[in-house]
Amino acid sequence: MNILVTGSGGQLGSEFRALSVRYPRHRFFFFDHAGLDIRDRKQVRGVMEQCRPAVVLNCAAFTSVDNAEAEPEKAYEVNRDGAAVLAENAKEHGALLVHISSYYVFDGYAGVPYKETDETGPVGVYALSKFQGEELIRNSASSFLIIRTGWLYSAFGVNFVKTMLRLGRERESVKVVFDRVGSPAYAGDLAQAVMNILEKQEPGKTCAATYHLANEGVCSWYDFAVAVMRFAKLPCRVLPVDSSEFPVAGPRPCYSALNSRAIAKDYDLDVPWWQESLEKMLESC
Ligand SMILES: NC(=O)c1ccc[n+]([C@@H]2O[C@H](COP(=O)([O-])OP(=O)(O)OC[C@H]3O[C@@H](n4cnc5c(N)ncnc54)[C@H](OP(=O)(O)O)[C@@H]3O)[C@@H](O)[C@H]2O)c1
Repeated sequence: MNILVTGSGGQLGSEFRALSVRYPRHRFFFFDHAGLDIRDRKQVRGVMEQCRPAVVLNCAAFTSVDNAEAEPEKAYEVNRDGAAVLAENAKEHGALLVHISSYYVFDGYAGVPYKETDETGPVGVYALSKFQGEELIRNSASSFLIIRTGWLYSAFGVNFVKTMLRLGRERESVKVVFDRVGSPAYAGDLAQAVMNILEKQEPGKTCAATYHLANEGVCSWYDFAVAVMRFAKLPCRVLPVDSSEFPVAGPRPCYSALNSRAIAKDYDLDVPWWQESLEKMLESC
């Protein structure tokens, strides 16, 4: 299978690159932002002609929630229009488009983990751009798998876990919000799950599904930070604070946990508990 990975310089794209060595029977084509801009129709068309992929894994996105408020046109160009460009091209080539989306498509006022059937309610530019990207894919790709994930982290790139590790080494204490709750999602697990899904996909069978996939379990950012310090054996104290102490430009959902049961059932996936995955990631750092 030829597999094209866009945004390969990011957290998730890097996890796919690391994982690809375990799949010598597939031919991977990795394109980072400099190598392929998903907004550029002509460039995408050329790369599709060159690689003739059976699968396009879209890991490219404008991911800064705060910058999206300052530069909305850029966020929409990448997360909405770029997704549509990939969908059109995947359709033309009969390729399956695996697109990663986000818990941000929900308004954040649920009390139990969000299911795929729950009503969406994106708030803010990033959230809207991701949601509209999903909608364009649902309306235009002939074969697609949209996977909404949770609080993504990895040994690659910049993320909450790595920031906590750095602060834990530099400071005696760190303040972390306790009133925002969600599902951590180790990008290494997500990449592995996608590969497991692809291995189970019947060749030539079209797919049109939107799923949730994060690690199992729910926690606050405070709980997440405490677990990082514990597992990394850092003496730094984590102090719980209200999110009003940390004003941010882009709106954040209060509750963003995801229910991953549907994808686990349909593809017979083992979804690890968030603390197990965090330990695994920290061991790999
Ligand atoms: N990070 C999270 O907490 C989180 C949570 C839920 C869902 N997600 C979703 O998960 C996916 C992967 O996220 P991630 O954390 O791996 O993101 P990331 O580390 O920010 O990687 C995204 C990559 O996309 C590249 N990119 C930006 N604009 C592009 C364009 N026009 N064409 C091609 N590449 C472009 C970026 O390059 P530059 O750095 O050069 O711009 C970056 O390398 C995204 O769809 C994201 O929305 C992320």
